[in-house]
Amino acid sequence: MAKETSKRKSMKTKKVTKAIFPVAGMGTRFLPATKSIPKEIMTLVDRPLIQYAIDEARAAGIKEFIFVTSRGKSALEDYFDHSPELENTLRKAGKSDLLEILKDTNMDSGAIAYVRQNRPMGLGHAVWCARRLVGDEPFAVLLPDDVIAADKPCLAQMVEAYEQTGGNVVAAMEVAPEKASSYGVLDIGEDMGAIVRAKGMVEKPKQGEAPSNLAVIGRYILSPKVMNNLNKMKQGAGGEIQLTDAIAEEVPDGNVFGFRFRGQRYDCGSKAGFLQATVAFGLARPDLSEEFNAYLHDMIALQKAAQ
Ligand code: G1P
Repeated sequence: MAKETSKRKSMKTKKVTKAIFPVAGMGTRFLPATKSIPKEIMTLVDRPLIQYAIDEARAAGIKEFIFVTSRGKSALEDYFDHSPELENTLRKAGKSDLLEILKDTNMDSGAIAYVRQNRPMGLGHAVWCARRLVGDEPFAVLLPDDVIAADKPCLAQMVEAYEQTGGNVVAAMEVAPEKASSYGVLDIGEDMGAIVRAKGMVEKPKQGEAPSNLAVIGRYILSPKVMNNLNKMKQGAGGEIQLTDAIAEEVPDGNVFGFRFRGQRYDCGSKAGFLQATVAFGLARPDLSEEFNAYLHDMIALQKAAQ
């Protein structure tokens, strides 16, 4: 393997500058909130979920942002646009700190593109909807539901792993065996520590049938071959077109790697995960931590006393 890795290392990898954000889902787990707002606009402290994903992509050198959307998601488009009225009001009021905060939400013209997925046919299908914008280039995929707190943002860590392996890299994390059936799961070929070469990959394996407990988390760096594989429109788990299956087709070439990222992942697609993330991000905020920490302590003390 050492030889293989160094051979791959010497191969020049094409820079990853495009990222796909699948945001077409209806977010039914968060009804009624998601009746009129996209779930990606739901906020952790004061920033929408999508902002965390965009910031992470920017930190990894992404220059083109492709949103795969659906009906009812126009709030996302407005969020990343200038808001002249708001900006003028803030400018007149001398609120330069707030203007500064808004800067992160602005995108250069043409840096962001929206394509529609007109039917919910699975994550693989959503990614495939962006094929013309991606072209013959490696690309990243970020699922905004998965929020990852890390000193070095997860996708930036993965870019390094991609440069090292030259292959498809998927974020990976060990999960409790009974939870494995909620994820894409890697069959581990070679375990090299942070990087794992996969000898298989299964989407949502049945209870007790997972090849390992190393689960795929929603960050991917993929070769254009995966996009080609999606052209076959093969139905997989749940009758949907699965991204996992299109990646798994690259396994026989030894070209699929799991990457154990350094960081804490929150499943903001679930209510419990969203609440956990809210607490963690609240505590991490210098302007809130003291007050929030004191409140949590009091809450815990009260709960203990009531037991
Ligand atoms: C998707 C992917 C799955 C992955 C998961 C990570 O599933 O299909 O392979 O493990 O994201 O969050 P979903 O959670 O959308 O059902």
